[in-house]
Amino acid sequence: MESHVRIFDTTLRDGEQAPGCTLTLEEKLEVARQLARLKVDIIEAGFPAASPGDWAAVHEIAREVGTPDGPTIAALARANREDIEKAWTAIQPAAKKRIHTFMSTSDIHLEHQFRKTREQCLTIIREMVGFARSLCTDVEFSPMDAGRSDPLFLREAVAVAVEAGATTLNIPDTVGYLTPDEYGAMIRDLNQNVPGIENCILSTHCHDDLGVAVANSLAGVRDGARQVECTINGIGERAGNASLEEVVMAIHTRGQFYGVQTQINTTELARASRLVSRFIGVPVPPNKAIVGANAFAHESGIHQDGVLKHRQTYEIMRAETVGLDGNELILGKHSGRHAFRIKLTAMGVVLANDEEFQRLFERFKDLCDRKKRVEDRDIEALIAGELQHIPEIYKLDHVQYFSGTGQIPTATVRLIGPEAQVVVDSSQGTGPVDAIYRAINRIIQRPNELMEFSINAITEGMDAVAEVTVRIREQGGAARDDSEQLGASTSTTTSLTGRRITQEIFSGYGVDTDTVVACAHAYMAALNKMLAVRQERIKVEAVAYAAGYTTD
Ligand code: KIV
Ligand code: ZN
Repeated sequence: MESHVRIFDTTLRDGEQAPGCTLTLEEKLEVARQLARLKVDIIEAGFPAASPGDWAAVHEIAREVGTPDGPTIAALARANREDIEKAWTAIQPAAKKRIHTFMSTSDIHLEHQFRKTREQCLTIIREMVGFARSLCTDVEFSPMDAGRSDPLFLREAVAVAVEAGATTLNIPDTVGYLTPDEYGAMIRDLNQNVPGIENCILSTHCHDDLGVAVANSLAGVRDGARQVECTINGIGERAGNASLEEVVMAIHTRGQFYGVQTQINTTELARASRLVSRFIGVPVPPNKAIVGANAFAHESGIHQDGVLKHRQTYEIMRAETVGLDGNELILGKHSGRHAFRIKLTAMGVVLANDEEFQRLFERFKDLCDRKKRVEDRDIEALIAGELQHIPEIYKLDHVQYFSGTGQIPTATVRLIGPEAQVVVDSSQGTGPVDAIYRAINRIIQRPNELMEFSINAITEGMDAVAEVTVRIREQGGAARDDSEQLGASTSTTTSLTGRRITQEIFSGYGVDTDTVVACAHAYMAALNKMLAVRQERIKVEAVAYAAGYTTD
């Protein structure tokens, strides 16, 4: 059996479905570029039938990232002609394309959700996989809720898909119910009992409801799967999916045990994790395996003593391998334009124009005045804060606050609005951040609820730069009926195709050496994202129709 395990990243599809993970088109592109740097084999770029915006995002990713030496671009489609056609048109610009279609096979889904018999289910699989294969040579089929399907019927369904032309058979534990032993046994059973499976790739797709998605995926690999579906930071529906970085590093570190390898450039893992975390506004927990801030920190005296004497006493991986703590060229206030440009190039940062470079350089110099050693993580945060892929509909021009013991916290903000109008307002609050947020709300007037708020120091030291992420939910009027959709990022999640009334959550990110100012930037970013996503949906629809999106 071949030893290459394909990494199929579904951050932009299953991941983006999670509550609060709405990304703008530019953010999706940025994630896709990073996935290409990571060298994932396949990017599932989205679910084109969900909306013209989703179609346009997949199309754009296929155009920009789906180069001949880049990853295969996959698009998800329910097992019906319209979805499959939309998936096919959306991935057209990619050099390597894949249609991924799915149909539930568990009795509980067939009876209660799809109201289909097993016979009807097999007919749908045969016809729709066949239809997808008539368009595309690379077709993936997923029997949804395979984990709770009757094993004999699952064999039958997979055999039908193979016969109809599927080239990859992905076996989802949709509700995260199985144990590693059970999941491995299911893969083994299919490997041994489905005629023609030897010419196809078996794939894992595990959800983390019981906290064993990574263990289940690895069990699948042990039993013959040669593709793993996963997401950066394990984001996804409910408890999420198998985490890409954990699967990859388990295979990398225990390659001999698993007898397989991936082609992932592991030194890009930490950056991918930080990028996704910033875009969705969910900080990576410090104890998260592989990419958490403490994943390589040794606190206890005995461990420190051991590591200082011989690194491998307590370390099974090196931080450098995952892109943490690299051999950094530290910059400081004597570093000039040239050094800064070299640093950006080394970090793989592509700037749109000289104006962007200038803006960043000014922020960098400003930071050097306040911080002695400017590290890669600072620069990355600076870029994330400065070059956000969110249109600045309202720009924070000035913020001033007054607070202290026995004082009434007060803030004044000056914003520049969409018509270049300058608006100033002030407010009091329970603290300086509350006062600033109230003052901003008095100007923008889009009622919203602050759902999450987190502050983090990017590096060690008293002069560290603060990064702040916030998540807000628009109040009133923002509900969206996603009855026929899959792929929306919402605050309510039910079944994949069930009716649901949803409200979207938007995240924002801000950085500054002044923590309170970073809070102001983060809130402005979340508000701008909320306003921009609404505007973008209208614009993107026009772009999608112009590029070939159709409704029947
Ligand atoms: O979890 C699941 O079953 C899925 C399918 C659509 C592949 O995400
Ligand atoms: Zn899934």
